[in-house]
Amino acid sequence: MKILITGGAGYIGSHTCVALMEQGYSLVILDNFSNSKPAVLDKLRKLNDNFVFYNVDVTNEEALERVFSNHKIDGVIHFAGYKAVGESVAKPLNYYINNVGSTMILAKVCQKYNVNKFVFSSSATVYGENKVPFKEEMELLPTTNPYGETKAMSERILMDVAKANPNFAVSILRYFNPVGAHESGLIGEDPNGIPNNLMPYITKVAKGELEKLRVFGNDYPTPDGTGIRDYIHVMDLAEGHVAAYKHLRKGVHIYNLGTGKGTSVLELVHAFEKANGIKVPYEIVERRPGDIAICYADASKAERELGWKAKRDIIDMCRDAWRFENLT
Ligand code: WQD
Repeated sequence: MKILITGGAGYIGSHTCVALMEQGYSLVILDNFSNSKPAVLDKLRKLNDNFVFYNVDVTNEEALERVFSNHKIDGVIHFAGYKAVGESVAKPLNYYINNVGSTMILAKVCQKYNVNKFVFSSSATVYGENKVPFKEEMELLPTTNPYGETKAMSERILMDVAKANPNFAVSILRYFNPVGAHESGLIGEDPNGIPNNLMPYITKVAKGELEKLRVFGNDYPTPDGTGIRDYIHVMDLAEGHVAAYKHLRKGVHIYNLGTGKGTSVLELVHAFEKANGIKVPYEIVERRPGDIAICYADASKAERELGWKAKRDIIDMCRDAWRFENLT
């Protein structure tokens, strides 16, 4: 029995593969390297080689069927998808076709092969400008970008599939801000080009590859005026997926995977400097369009129902992110 991991060469996918193999699971990893690198698979093998890999685009139904007919799949964890908020505004169709299309086709092939365990990688972005802390039972508000809409639509599609098929067991995991890297430093967040996200930008500045961090606005209604987010260590997030997979049961169950704590941009910068003994030069600039002021989770449901709670702190995140940057 194997677990199919789509996007398994990606940042969160690869860390989840490590956590799953540590628990003895055998994996079938799919990736088309649209936002990841083949070298990640060599690094994965150094940690654990209990997987087979296929270079497959999950929107390719035929290729997907070949994988399902060659392996006895017990369940799937669906990471594959584009995730750059700004890019989704510029190229909405790419995002709808890829993110929503891949979810529909994967669910369709699962139904055909009677695979009824489905963990879906969603995002806190679906909450829109709700009141913090975000709770799973909240009414979702429109997001500020097509990326967020693709996650909200995919969630609704999976709910409808579960209504039609009472054997379907779906766990929807809404991530907050994943950062950091596996303690080995072998895998981590390695975006192509100039990073959109805060932590990889900080590590590139610390390394001298980028001149300084631009802090997008310090006039938000927060203690130091900069944006607040719920940063979660990627290995805590990975372990959250293992817990969700183990607890899969019929119907649709939604969980926030966050720490429940908010950290501002400047607090993260100072934590990084303290953890690694290195200066991070920055400049306050204009707000980034589409950003919300404050976002953090009520993470109590995952603890109650999955027995999972994030255990790594912001210093661990900063230290592990820096180690990976220096080993890459
Ligand atoms: C964090 C904070 C910025 C960069 C996005 C997606 C979310 C998820 C994670 C996919 C904000 C500030 C950032 C910089 C800055 N992705 N910032 N200078 O936007 O909270 O979330 O990535 O699942 O869905 O929406 O993450 O890291 O881009 O920003 O000041 O160079 O850092 O304004 O307050 P975000 P982020």
